[in-house]
Amino acid sequence: MQPVLQVKNIAKEFPGVKALEDISIDFYPGECHALVGENGAGKSTLIKIIASIYKPTRGEVILDGKVCNFKTPKDALDAGIAVIQQETSIAPHLTVAENIYLGCEPKQKNGLLDRKKMEADAQAVLDEMGLEIDAHTLCSTLTAAQLQMVEIAKVISKHAKVVVLDEPTSSLSEKEIDSLFEQVRKMKAANTTMIYVTHRMAELSIICERCSIFRDGLKVAEYKINEVDEQTIVNSMVGRELGAFVKPDHTAKQEVLRVEKLCQKGKFENVSFHANAGEIVAFSGLVGAGRTEVMEAIFGATKLTSGKVYLNGEEVHIKNPADAIRRGIGLATEDRRRTGLLLTKTIEENIALPNLPFHAKNGFVNVPWEKETSEEYMGKLKIKAPNILTLCGNLSGGNQQKVILSKWLAAGVKLLILDEPTKGIDVNARAEFYALMDQFVEEGGSIIMVSSDMPEIIKVADRAYVMSEGRLTGELTRSEITELNLISLANPVSDGSDKKPKKKAGKK
Ligand SMILES: Nc1ncnc2c1ncn2[C@@H]1O[C@H](COP(=O)(O)OP(=O)(O)OP(=O)(O)O)[C@@H](O)[C@H]1O
Ligand SMILES: [Mg+2]
Repeated sequence: MQPVLQVKNIAKEFPGVKALEDISIDFYPGECHALVGENGAGKSTLIKIIASIYKPTRGEVILDGKVCNFKTPKDALDAGIAVIQQETSIAPHLTVAENIYLGCEPKQKNGLLDRKKMEADAQAVLDEMGLEIDAHTLCSTLTAAQLQMVEIAKVISKHAKVVVLDEPTSSLSEKEIDSLFEQVRKMKAANTTMIYVTHRMAELSIICERCSIFRDGLKVAEYKINEVDEQTIVNSMVGRELGAFVKPDHTAKQEVLRVEKLCQKGKFENVSFHANAGEIVAFSGLVGAGRTEVMEAIFGATKLTSGKVYLNGEEVHIKNPADAIRRGIGLATEDRRRTGLLLTKTIEENIALPNLPFHAKNGFVNVPWEKETSEEYMGKLKIKAPNILTLCGNLSGGNQQKVILSKWLAAGVKLLILDEPTKGIDVNARAEFYALMDQFVEEGGSIIMVSSDMPEIIKVADRAYVMSEGRLTGELTRSEITELNLISLANPVSDGSDKKPKKKAGKK
């Protein structure tokens, strides 16, 4: 079998960083080839070179036996290489249909945009994927997961020869992942060459045929998936045997947060729960169940329609996020580029930001504290960068996420709300992060963790709530947290009532 796409002896250097060294891989038609490796190993950089977003320092990309001399990403796309990047590139002010056909809009005979055809074709792709998204919806109204599915629809609509997916599942839940895998299978059956980046090892045996392992910019191994086990892959990724994270038992202490009958019109209703010091409380559910919306409302980022919030036993009215931070609440959002991180600022500045109210002295920034703390967390979470003065925009996706986690762990807050905290974080750093979460609650903090990753909830949560369609459907104790319980509570209850607050997702 001839490879469709080849990369040969690729190297890429950024100032002070060797991102890739001498990478050669052959990609075959009808196969899905996984790229795996720790955060910052070089996976996305290789993908950007394939997509002609970056020029390699050395080496070449070969398509159908010919060396590619693409000038722009559009040239690569025209030649049949479609890429979904790790960070969404959806334009929020355009509709779903406009985004799917951006740059390749269908035209009428007179050369004008054929909007009817564009919208019908876009809807057909969305329906085919089993998505409940209307093609006319403005993308700014969609959730992170829905945006990700629109990205995937966009690539599918291109019928490209080579399809590259950089961590497509990191913001998706089981249901969307199933639908994505179905599409991957179809594309493979149509002889498409697929390249797939993931940190979820379990996905490899489901949809991939081969995998290349990256470590510090080098390709350290290539395996056929059916000839290798997961542990071998993880070990060669990390370069040593990796111990598993074992959850210690926590004893819940006094109540930190209690909310009663929270409602936000059209988003969620009647949500009551509590979180104690000394415990990790998980929120499970399908994407779109309303978990993020509840957390944002508690944090003061959006307004509640009704309901009561008690902090340490006292009723509070949190006006805005700054007010929440002053009261000792932190929220690490799921959408790091939009709300989590200042990309044009350094690692140090980002980590220090929410800490200013706690650590500034007489109105002056506490410089030694900032430097020390940033360096401490850079070490603890293994943030891969030349130093704390590196701009966050230049970090790999997973390392950006580590900066967000650092800034909140360091913030001295008492209640930490984490929305999909390990999205895009590699297996090794995950274990480190779980240990830091444990330390945080051991020291008397309280954590609420929204996660769509069920194995993660089973691994770290002391207690779990499940939401479905804007309502709380159950509470589980540590011993009741099983995949079966989480799934059955997450799936919409058909109790015949028509009070469901949530409309068809994303519909105007
Ligand atoms: N534009 C850039 N400028 C400077 N350094 C960069 C740039 N892009 C990437 N890097 C660096 O190159 C290295 C590889 O990054 P890359 O994004 O390829 O990692 P990755 O394997 O995709 O990691 P992740 O799993 O976290 O997404 C990192 O050290 C990163 O900081
Ligand atoms: Mg990446």
